Amino acid sequence: MALANENYLKIPESRFSDEIEKRVNAFKVLHPTTKLIRLGIGDVTRPLPEEAVSAIHKAAEEMLHPETFKGYGPLQGYDFLIDKILKTYRSSGIILDKESIFVNHGAKPDIGNIGHILGRDNIIAIAEPVYPVYENAAIMSGRGGEINDEEKWSNIVYLHCSKENNFVPELPDERVDIIYLCNPNNPTGTVINKTELKKWVDYALENQSIIIYDGAYHAYINEPDIPHSIYEIKGAKKVALEIRSYSKTAGFTGLRCGYTVFPKELMVYTRTGEEIPLLKLWYRRNLNYSNGVSYVVQRAAEALYSRKGRIEIQELIGYYLENAKFIREELSELGWEVFGGVNSPYVWFKTPRNQPSWKFFHELLYNYNIIGMPGIIFGKSGDGYMRFSGFCSYEDTEEAMKRIKSNY
Ligand code: MLT
Repeated sequence: MALANENYLKIPESRFSDEIEKRVNAFKVLHPTTKLIRLGIGDVTRPLPEEAVSAIHKAAEEMLHPETFKGYGPLQGYDFLIDKILKTYRSSGIILDKESIFVNHGAKPDIGNIGHILGRDNIIAIAEPVYPVYENAAIMSGRGGEINDEEKWSNIVYLHCSKENNFVPELPDERVDIIYLCNPNNPTGTVINKTELKKWVDYALENQSIIIYDGAYHAYINEPDIPHSIYEIKGAKKVALEIRSYSKTAGFTGLRCGYTVFPKELMVYTRTGEEIPLLKLWYRRNLNYSNGVSYVVQRAAEALYSRKGRIEIQELIGYYLENAKFIREELSELGWEVFGGVNSPYVWFKTPRNQPSWKFFHELLYNYNIIGMPGIIFGKSGDGYMRFSGFCSYEDTEEAMKRIKSNY
């Protein structure tokens, strides 16, 4: 009898945004012609930078000719892309080795797969509310324990975040081994500044813990005191891996490309206390589970570092940030409690009249024809909140705010 990995039965059957689509589809049956404005899922809507598309054309053409055709690429990524990544870190004073960069298919697979190279008994800490993938990955890998009435898992440590602490996670009272930090944060759009992040790095150094630093939204940072990389903090190379992606930076959510940094100084330990560089384990994992990212896609990513590519990216980010800023301002004018939207495409806000998230979701959908992301999707502590994303067109964002403001 082939046995199932029953840990997989403990997590939802659908993607976290599918529940929204189910409810939207029910609405559409009754109102097939109504134009809906989507401020829910954090997916980009602007087309790819021209530089990336020309690079794709060029690379595809190379695949047509025997002398330029490419088969399997280097496991960690092509040098032409890794060199650009290293140079960009260098320009912020962060020196990394070539061996530390692993080009990947975007942030999400690494966020989950990292669990394969970490001991089963590690205690995992996640913020609450949280991007569901961190929690689900812990549960699927058998690190969840039992769920209680509060929908919390016994072996996961939840880092308290609330409006009182501006949704910045607080250090745990107990010892934890693996800490997921997302900065700028999804879903709350809030940020951890350098002083706060240093506390986490110091905690990890003291406890021989590691930090899985999800920097998928780093390109949206525009305030001076917010670290773009965890390696801006002294000692972080010893305790943190950093995940970045071109998805939200350059519209690659459909193309798929990113990279994870495993500094050579980053150690994990055997039960007898022997130090093991984590990158060695990741290398072995990839050796067996991956053949790297396609040449064509890596050429597209490389093109983002050209002068024109960088300008195009800045325009894209500026566009989405402008939307987020607008949402933030408009909702604040209504007197609503609003977070994020400054260094992030996400705006997180308290629902009016303290409504549960799903109730307000329906009000938005049926009364204003707007789709938001209910805070409860990110855990029970997110109930009573809603997330809007700045990834829509400016016109639709403006229209959505007009609809809300005309009635509130
Ligand atoms: C979101 O809506 O939070 C994003 O789509 C998350 C993701 O990038 O997977």
